[in-house]
Amino acid sequence: MAKYRVGFIGTGRKPVRAGPEGYGMAHQHAAAYKALPEECEIVACADIVRENAEAFAAMWGVPASGVYTDVGTMLQSEVLDVVSVCVWPHLHAPLVIEAACAGVKAIHCEKPMADTWGASRLMAQECARRGVRLSFNHQRRFGRPFRQAKAMLDQGVIGQLRRVEFSAGNLYDYGSHSFELSGYFAGERPARWVIAQIDYRSESLVFGAHNENQALAQWEYDNGVHGLAATGRGGGLVGAHNRLVGEEGIIELGPQGEGLPVLRVRRYGAGGWEAVDCGREDLHGPGYIERGIADVLAALRAGGESELCARHALNATEIIFACWESSRRRGRVDLPLTIADNPLQAMVASGELTPRPREQALAR
Ligand SMILES: NC(=O)c1ccc[n+]([C@@H]2O[C@H](COP(=O)([O-])OP(=O)(O)OC[C@H]3O[C@@H](n4cnc5c(N)ncnc54)[C@H](O)[C@@H]3O)[C@@H](O)[C@H]2O)c1
Repeated sequence: MAKYRVGFIGTGRKPVRAGPEGYGMAHQHAAAYKALPEECEIVACADIVRENAEAFAAMWGVPASGVYTDVGTMLQSEVLDVVSVCVWPHLHAPLVIEAACAGVKAIHCEKPMADTWGASRLMAQECARRGVRLSFNHQRRFGRPFRQAKAMLDQGVIGQLRRVEFSAGNLYDYGSHSFELSGYFAGERPARWVIAQIDYRSESLVFGAHNENQALAQWEYDNGVHGLAATGRGGGLVGAHNRLVGEEGIIELGPQGEGLPVLRVRRYGAGGWEAVDCGREDLHGPGYIERGIADVLAALRAGGESELCARHALNATEIIFACWESSRRRGRVDLPLTIADNPLQAMVASGELTPRPREQALAR
């Protein structure tokens, strides 16, 4: 079995302290590939900052000949099967498309998909028509709490699922994970419509992209399951990282409050909350990125679809941009979403939204 040759676009710096100025996600992807030595080998990396690429290469055993400062040169010089894209969101679509056109077999890109709805669709389209498997690093669904919640749902522990809910810091940067998880629980279906309102009074740039300060959103999937999300200051409305409301009970992941378990269930008529043991796994790990990348490579080997596929990411991303579009239109947005831009970014550019610059917001 030939090993897949893996290359990196954007290596980051291994962070001393992770934060929205750079998590060095490439290093986490690299650890996941390294854990599969029979399946793949990391042979090349490209970063516009040479010292980042060199440090990455030294750490993960990339030969000096495989270190590049230009993505195009790497793609032309190396025969790569798999590429991990770990740059900031506005660069995801152009660099994914460049890799797809260069003939790689699979691309595993960081979330969120792209900085506009048009670019999100385009990257999926250009990979699909070239037979390139595109996946996104929405790794949480591989965590034991999320897996157990889904298993309980499928076993009918809370009866027919009626609603998925989440609270998050925002709809886009973190919300990308939350909407993808909502789709996982709700049956991987597209939504029919979205209605939302947002507040954006203080500039919040995460990896260079605007994120609203607060939002309230409702949507319905085409199988009749409803969605509810509250971000920012209003997150307490949901009061949990994810909440699954069924006809016969409720499952909560990451309920807000001191000392509460990461996963708990309440069956109507059976008393109070029951904690569900998830070992040492919490909402964020450990091991989730490793399992996600293992799934991506297994799907590539088997000729199937990874759980982290672009189809699932599109279902989530459409709702994100539709939320902001609903705020722009002041009304419900029926899907499919036909706009191509980023409504939040457009409203800031037009002056319709005037978030206080970060420095001023911090000074208050
Ligand atoms: N899945 C998760 O839980 C999770 C967590 C944090 C961040 N992220 C996502 O990961 C992505 C990357 O974030 P990060 O924190 O790892 O970034 P980072 O800043 O640590 O690394 C990005 C790297 O890209 C390089 N770069 C910029 N332009 C380039 C170009 N044209 N060609 C090649 N390299 C280029 C930069 O020099 C930098 O080294 C973001 O989309 C972010 O949202 C995901």
